[in-house]
Amino acid sequence: MEGKKSECSDNSFTSVMTLTKMRVPHVPQRYVLPPSQRPNPMLDLTSTLPVIDLSALNHPSQRSLTLDQIQRACKELGFFQVVNHGIPLSIMNDALAAATEFFNLSLEEKMPLLSDNVHNPVRYGTSLNHASDKVHYWRDFIKHYSHPISDWIHLWPSNPPSYKDKMGNYAEAVQVLQKQLMEVILETLGLNFGNLHNEIEEGNQLMAINCYPACPEPDLTLGMPPHSDYGTLTILQQSGPGLQLQDNNKNWLSVPFIEGAFIVQLGDQIEVMSNGKYKSVVHQVTLSAEKKRLSIASLHSLPLNKKIGPAPELVDEQHPASYNEFSFRDFLDYISSNNIEDRRFIDSIKKSA
Ligand code: OGA
Ligand code: NI
Repeated sequence: MEGKKSECSDNSFTSVMTLTKMRVPHVPQRYVLPPSQRPNPMLDLTSTLPVIDLSALNHPSQRSLTLDQIQRACKELGFFQVVNHGIPLSIMNDALAAATEFFNLSLEEKMPLLSDNVHNPVRYGTSLNHASDKVHYWRDFIKHYSHPISDWIHLWPSNPPSYKDKMGNYAEAVQVLQKQLMEVILETLGLNFGNLHNEIEEGNQLMAINCYPACPEPDLTLGMPPHSDYGTLTILQQSGPGLQLQDNNKNWLSVPFIEGAFIVQLGDQIEVMSNGKYKSVVHQVTLSAEKKRLSIASLHSLPLNKKIGPAPELVDEQHPASYNEFSFRDFLDYISSNNIEDRRFIDSIKKSA
């Protein structure tokens, strides 16, 4: 184990935006993945992934059909896209514009936020963790806690000047959507939303704002390696295609880009709560040789220290509890000392049969 580096003292930090400004003709060696982990266009099946019209939930005649669609998507994939979700396109585009401006700032302006400590509520970085990654991924990011917004917004970037306003409006709108989706998803599991209402209300919202510049050799590397998200739901908007998810047959499917839609991904906390009825979706990010891609992922979880286990309603003799309890803090501790490319976090809490 290497000694832990203190924040901001790492002179070797190089963002992908810096490499882009230098117009490197090849990806540096540290980005080159072993052949078995590179994106494989042969497996890139096109398929019809579910798109759900949320406005149909308000129509009594369509509600139960929509709940069925959501249930099937959660069971089979742990993934769906939503349209007619009630968040104006202008709020979505403003957040993307603020993110674009942030990543375009000079490195000196972003460096004060650089951190390799996953427990920090605000941190700028590259790859997964620049201080410990053996292989690097072609991504720069800023992550910040966002709920309740008054606890965190003063720590967010103050440049560009509109960042706090635009990202704040977006974060609050997505937090409302998250509660609506949790209510519906718990209903499809036959679980009582009321019991969890306060914990969902007081849950953690982490915004991960990702920048994937155009890559000179997109066949050799990835923007993010295969992983699942730790929380309950991730609600993501992307500026263009690049996200892929793994289906039950381990094929990689490309998520079609739909302007104005949100991508909804189930995380490990839902898989555990559902006692495995619903699956957290394994996903990765591929790159383009021509176009930079931005994404804004809002990662929701129950409060930092709240231990989540299989819901008692879903455990019986035929379905014994398949997972140990864990909290968001347990996940953060896990990624501070383990490499998620070697072993998924959720595999570390599965009970052996
Ligand atoms: C993430 C993630 C996907 C994307 O931030 O956890 O999976 O498309 N992002 O950026
Ligand atoms: Ni993810």
